Amino acid sequence: MTDRAEAIGIFDSGMGGLTVLRAIRERLPSEPLLYLGDTARVPYGSKSAATVERYAQACAGVLVKQGVKLLVVACNTASAYALPCLRAELDAPVLGVIEPGAQAAASQTRNGRVGVIGTAATIGSGAYQEALLRVNEDLRVVAQHCPLFVPLAEEGWTDGPVPRQVASHYLASMRQAEVDTLVLGCTHYPLLKTVIGEVMGDSVTLIDSAEATSAVVAEVLGGAGLVAPEGETARQRFLVTDSPQRFAEAGARFLGHELREVEWVDFS
Ligand code: DGL
Repeated sequence: MTDRAEAIGIFDSGMGGLTVLRAIRERLPSEPLLYLGDTARVPYGSKSAATVERYAQACAGVLVKQGVKLLVVACNTASAYALPCLRAELDAPVLGVIEPGAQAAASQTRNGRVGVIGTAATIGSGAYQEALLRVNEDLRVVAQHCPLFVPLAEEGWTDGPVPRQVASHYLASMRQAEVDTLVLGCTHYPLLKTVIGEVMGDSVTLIDSAEATSAVVAEVLGGAGLVAPEGETARQRFLVTDSPQRFAEAGARFLGHELREVEWVDFS
C-alpha cells in the first residue's frame, strides 16, 4: 500500500523542473520532495519522441525505486511524449505539466486567442495545441518554439538587451496574432518571465504551468488520501545524472536559495 509519508517524485531533463518543485513547495510545504534532473542527457527538447520516451521511463524508474507516492513529469517535452507509457507502466498516479497549463490558459483568455511557446519537440508534438482545443474547440491557438530561451535561462542571462532581442524575435508572431494569453510551455521559461512580459505587454496574461500543476498535485493527493502528515519538516532531495556541483550552483538561481543534498545517480 502507498505510504502517505513517501515523497512526491519530480523529474525533468535538467534543472528547469525546479520551477515546478518550487511551486509545489510553496503550496504544500509538508510534502517531502525527491527531484531527479537528467542533466547528463539534457536537452530533451531537440530529441525524437522515441528517445524522450526512453529517457522518461529511465527517470521514472529511478524515482519509483526510491519509493514515491506520486510522480510529476516536470518537463513539458517529456509530458508531451511519455505520459501514456508512464501511466500504463506505473502504479503511482502520474501528472504532467501540459494539461494543467492548458486548462489555466483556456479559462483565462478573454479574446479566445492563446499563444504557446516551448521547445521544438513540445511544439512539434502538438500536445498543447490539442489540450487547449479539448478544453475549448473555439480557441485560436498560435504556437512557437523558442530554442534559445533554455540556454539563456541556464546561464542566468535573463535580463538586458540580448534576451530582449531574442524574445522580440520569437514572440513577433504572438503579437501579430494579438493573443491575450501566453502559455510558458517549457520549464525554463518562467525565469524569463520579466522579459517575455515586457515584450508582450501588460495586457497579455502569462501562464506558468508550474503554478497550475502544483494546484493539480494538491487536488490529486487530497483525492487519493495521500497528503503527508502535517507538522513534519519536509525534506527535499535532489538526484542528478551529471555533476552535482554544477546542478547545485545553477539550481540556486531557479530556487532562489542554496540547494543541499544533491547526489549523483547512474541509470544503468
Ligand atoms: N525541460 C524541458 C521542457 O520543459 C526544457 C529543456 C530541454 O530541452 O530538455 O520542455
